[in-house]
Amino acid sequence: MTTLRVENLRAGYKGEEVLHGISFSVNSSERVVIMGPSGSGKTTLLKAIPRLVEPSAGRIIFKGVDITAIRDEKRLREIRSRIGYLPQHYGLFLHMKVIDNVTFPLRVVKKIPKKRAEEIALKYLRLFGIEDLAEKYPSQLSGGQQQRAALARTLAMNPDLLLLDEPTSALDPESRLDVLEALYDVARMGKAMIIVTHEIDFALEAADRIIYMEKGRIIAEGDPHDVLNSNPRIRSFIQKIAGNMADA
Ligand SMILES: Nc1ncnc2c1ncn2[C@@H]1O[C@H](COP(=O)(O)OP(=O)(O)OP(=O)(O)O)[C@@H](O)[C@H]1O
Ligand SMILES: [Mg+2]
Repeated sequence: MTTLRVENLRAGYKGEEVLHGISFSVNSSERVVIMGPSGSGKTTLLKAIPRLVEPSAGRIIFKGVDITAIRDEKRLREIRSRIGYLPQHYGLFLHMKVIDNVTFPLRVVKKIPKKRAEEIALKYLRLFGIEDLAEKYPSQLSGGQQQRAALARTLAMNPDLLLLDEPTSALDPESRLDVLEALYDVARMGKAMIIVTHEIDFALEAADRIIYMEKGRIIAEGDPHDVLNSNPRIRSFIQKIAGNMADA
């Protein structure tokens, strides 16, 4: 079953087009990795799917519903609540304890009672190995712990589609490995997911497909090994990021 179909999507900022006609689909249990140089439009693409950046043309069909055609704010919020978006720079509420960060959307968006929301939150915190940090504030956590808390918050909503934007890129090497481990767990959950990442091993081992973008267009798409070997520009990009990771 198709979870997401993006058709000829165009989007940008203040009249400047960043995405110049993007089309692809994601099936219900498919894991898709998006790669491409800085500025190629990866974040803009993730944001355009739940219309956090407003598309200027094209269609976004999520579980049979054309998101781009929705005019009713309430209906749009309902659809967004089924799409789990993890921004590139984690967005935990700093004034809330970890547990409250996770229960907040459950209670406010899904109207789940406090006690039940806390049970769900603890289940996901446990899954990502940070149950014991539930009563701490984000500033008391390492970057990797914060990112796992953000993942717990996103997954606790039980979304039909996950959008993860470079979840390991801002982390120190040790935290990076902890979060990578969490991402392998997420990949095994069998949810539709789109993840922007430069983690080559993760892409090769856990992704069903890679989409490679340049300058707001998809220039290669398919089996991870095929895409990463498909043309000299992509090979040189991969060599560059592999070099950076070795330096880290
Ligand atoms: N809020 C914004 N306002 C105006 N222009 C923006 C905004 N966000 C991004 N852009 C521009 O859109 C283009 C694509 O940016 P985007 O963040 O989507 O790239 P990216 O592929 O995610 O890059 P990175 O790998 O650095 O995260 C860039 O030229 C960027 O300057
Ligand atoms: Mg980005």
